[in-house]
Amino acid sequence: MKNSLLTFLNGSDMPYRLKRLIVRIFALLTFRKFKSLNRHLLTDNSRKTGEWFYPEFNNEIRRNKNCSSYIPVINSDWETRLSHIKDKESKTFMDAGCGAGYILYRACEYFKHVIGFDFFEPLVKVAHKELSTRGIDKSKWTAIEADARNVPKDIMDRVDVFFMANPFLGEIMEAFIEQIIASIKRKDRDVHIIYVKNMGRKTILKHGVFQSVEVFRDKNLSTFDTEIFEYKKAAK
Ligand SMILES: C[S@@+](CC[C@H](N)C(=O)[O-])C[C@H]1O[C@@H](n2cnc3c(N)ncnc32)[C@H](O)[C@@H]1O
Repeated sequence: MKNSLLTFLNGSDMPYRLKRLIVRIFALLTFRKFKSLNRHLLTDNSRKTGEWFYPEFNNEIRRNKNCSSYIPVINSDWETRLSHIKDKESKTFMDAGCGAGYILYRACEYFKHVIGFDFFEPLVKVAHKELSTRGIDKSKWTAIEADARNVPKDIMDRVDVFFMANPFLGEIMEAFIEQIIASIKRKDRDVHIIYVKNMGRKTILKHGVFQSVEVFRDKNLSTFDTEIFEYKKAAK
């Protein structure tokens, strides 16, 4: 019953919020844990194919306050997400909290160079394996173990487009945004942030450095809002 319901919901076009409501009612009626069913709903794309599916690490990741566990946001609507970013082929992209590297894999198609970091070392190793076995040229990407509170400055300074799929909140989000702003002060350049499930948007806006330029619903996932923030370098 549980599996048929999840399969039905994942195959259906109804909005994510409605799917979540149905799952919530089902959980109430059957005394199941809503959170765990909801997670199934989100990861089902990769669960079905077995691709980028590494749930075994999540209990350990979840022990860290303000850190999201690994949910690959696969089958997402890249064309809409990236439409705001011009000259991608000359830019460097970063996935903050890259997990097993799915977004890195997709971004390699568009950007000059792609960088991912994650604080959970086993996932970084998986990302290396996933990208290598898919034959992506090693000169195209970098994946390192790092905590968002302490990403090497030289790496931060290379990035033009920061991508976040709600990887962390609270003081970690604060620290990461401060590092982006410090990087802009060291090296003035146009910078975009693509933020999926934009729960920490106030942290980005409060410095007055970034402006929100677009908010949209992913047409494939129809789950959360994605928001694009922009900083334009100072005119000379
Ligand atoms: C929701 S997943 C996003 C995965 C990937 N970006 C994607 O969209 O497929 C969040 C990732 O952020 C990582 N993460 C959480 N807190 C972190 C932190 N403080 N520093 C670095 N990575 C972190 C987790 O290990 C997890 O892999």
